[in-house]
Amino acid sequence: MNRVAVVGAGSMGRQIALHCTMKGLDASLFDLSSEVLSGAREFSESYLDSRVDKNRLTEDERAAAAARLRFASSVEDCVVGATVVIEAIIEEFQPKALLFEKLGVLCPPSTILATNSSNIVASRLAEVTSAPERVINLHFFNPVLVMDLVEVVLHPRVSAEVERGALEFCREIGRASIVVRKEVPGFVVNRIYRALTREAMNLLEGGYASAEDIDLAVTRGLGHPMGPFHLMDSAGVDVSYLARLDEYQQTGDEAAKPNAILEKLYREGRWGKKSGSGFFDYAEQGKNGEHA
Ligand SMILES: NC(=O)c1ccc[n+]([C@@H]2O[C@H](COP(=O)([O-])OP(=O)(O)OC[C@H]3O[C@@H](n4cnc5c(N)ncnc54)[C@H](O)[C@@H]3O)[C@@H](O)[C@H]2O)c1
Repeated sequence: MNRVAVVGAGSMGRQIALHCTMKGLDASLFDLSSEVLSGAREFSESYLDSRVDKNRLTEDERAAAAARLRFASSVEDCVVGATVVIEAIIEEFQPKALLFEKLGVLCPPSTILATNSSNIVASRLAEVTSAPERVINLHFFNPVLVMDLVEVVLHPRVSAEVERGALEFCREIGRASIVVRKEVPGFVVNRIYRALTREAMNLLEGGYASAEDIDLAVTRGLGHPMGPFHLMDSAGVDVSYLARLDEYQQTGDEAAKPNAILEKLYREGRWGKKSGSGFFDYAEQGKNGEHA
């Protein structure tokens, strides 16, 4: 059975580590910020407690999962004994590159070195390590504790052994996996998400239908659990805008350019639910949103 080290205990890293422990794996977690790390500890305890309250875990299972989760004092301490290291630090190339350089030295040759990055492809990080064949994207989805998918993204230098090991790891943690055979911005899920949201915004900007009606069309006509505008408001308008901008800057593809309405909301700080308004208005408690 794999032993996992997760570096970065923000919203993704803490969930990845906790999920692994609930599936029976030993996991260690580290963050540069001790405040974030203690926040991750509190998050894990209260999540496990809530699972017991909802009868989804027994007391024994809760205690066993908690005992398998270790909060490490440094990167060096975090990766001791790990067979899979998952990087989930801030979405910036330079800090990730420095970390991968270090991981290449610290970890034995058999360790899989994975990044959870949504945008930075592993081949760029592979270049800075002494062992590019073991660097791979393992892309989880938020909330990790709920979303049953990991994208395993290959690049030409990944070894077949690492590909097999990554898929085996996904099986161990009870997550469905897909193999993305070649690196592409946004991988599979986010490309489809961006195509859907782009077309929804094109229709809105063209005055063809309201945001409410486009969402209704997608939920009732396509059977999606949530329409694209409510989805963007939930995930964060800022996240959608910055991801589109990044893809546009990387590829120069006009189709990736953020829609005017997305840029306007971003610049006005209307980032969706977290800011009280986005495509819809959330100012009134319980209001499901009115087109803003
Ligand atoms: N949030 C999402 O919905 C989502 C979904 C899929 C993938 N991702 C990817 O996951 C990664 C993390 O995203 P997040 O939303 O959890 O970010 P976050 O900002 O919540 O957490 C990042 C954490 O990394 C820590 N950190 C920064 N540099 C570090 C270093 N050198 N060593 C250790 N810790 C360091 C920060 O203190 C911070 O707590 C990003 O690459 C992002 O693209 C995010």
